[in-house]
Amino acid sequence: MKIRKHVQRISRTALTFILATGMSGTVITTALAAEGGMGADAIPLPIELSPFKQRIPENAANVEAGRALYERSCIWCHGVNGEGKGPVAYFLSRDTAPHPRDFTSGIYKFRSTLSGEMPTDEDLFRTITRGIPGFMPGFRGYSTEDRWRLVYYIKSLSPDFKDAEPELIKVVGTPIPPTAASVQRGYQVYQKFKCWECHGGGGAGNGKKAGTLKDDWGFRLPPRDLRRPSSFKNGNAPADLYRTIMAGLDGGAMPSYSDFFEGSEQEVWDLINYINSLAAE
Ligand code: HEC
Ligand code: HEC
Repeated sequence: MKIRKHVQRISRTALTFILATGMSGTVITTALAAEGGMGADAIPLPIELSPFKQRIPENAANVEAGRALYERSCIWCHGVNGEGKGPVAYFLSRDTAPHPRDFTSGIYKFRSTLSGEMPTDEDLFRTITRGIPGFMPGFRGYSTEDRWRLVYYIKSLSPDFKDAEPELIKVVGTPIPPTAASVQRGYQVYQKFKCWECHGGGGAGNGKKAGTLKDDWGFRLPPRDLRRPSSFKNGNAPADLYRTIMAGLDGGAMPSYSDFFEGSEQEVWDLINYINSLAAE
């Protein structure tokens, strides 16, 4: 029993890492071998790959230090109280989505957790590190410690984070080679789940529902043009796309599909190959 617990703990850490960074297939294979209890030894992640190893304590001093960083770099968009109403918000997107996130709302798009759940700390760390293409700069320039301080400060703005134990999406399988057969299967999945209703038959973001979509705050939100992976806000590596499809982007109009793929998660990797086959940049 004890051993099993240990394996689960390692694999959860590894999974969080993969989902948080969207990285290498080798690491994924290692983690999933551990996850499935396939007899493989659980191999700790190389420390240099994992920014989370340098995590600092979540205490009042670090929250306070996070506030100072927030006031330097985030307040312009996210506002004095974190409600997303900073002066730059007006120029960024006055009548259309997205507005800078209201951190008091407890609604988060970029998660490795089930729809409706809070993001993990690592999810927030990843978003702050990478930024959001087209809308928010990345903050790699801040030290790992300072990015953790920002995470802790953001968390302090919503009571929903208190005692939250968000459930992670289930990761089954690994990225598969983008053979013609896989892309073809992915195309069938795209048809079956009617992704085209919003994203359009060719993925150009011009499906029949495209003009009608709004986010939770009532602003018009166009579906993504799937031919432009560099515009994907949630990352474009296979592990990122897995997160987007399974977890959905809460608060936006991109649904979560984890329930639909229950038991047939393998199909998601084909779907990802299909999406990648649309890339035209
Ligand atoms: C130029 C404006 C701008 C600045 C500066 C900015 N953000 Fe954002 N941020 C946004 C926008 C816009 C969104 C919402 C994007 C969306 O919903 O697609 C967002 C969303 C977020 C989210 C939510 C992600 C999610 O999962 O929903 C976090 C966390 C975040 N920002 C943190 C920060 C932090 C921390 C800083 C400062 C270090 C910062 N932002 C600076 C514009 C900005
Ligand atoms: C009801 C409309 C709708 C349907 C159906 C839909 N999407 Fe989306 N999708 C959206 C919207 C809107 C966005 C942009 C959300 C945002 O920016 O917050 C999006 C974004 C995306 C993105 C880009 C995420 C990012 O990182 O920026 C991908 C990839 C995607 N969808 C794939 C799919 C796939 C695959 C399906 C079918 C399984 C699907 N979508 C079904 C509306 C939809």
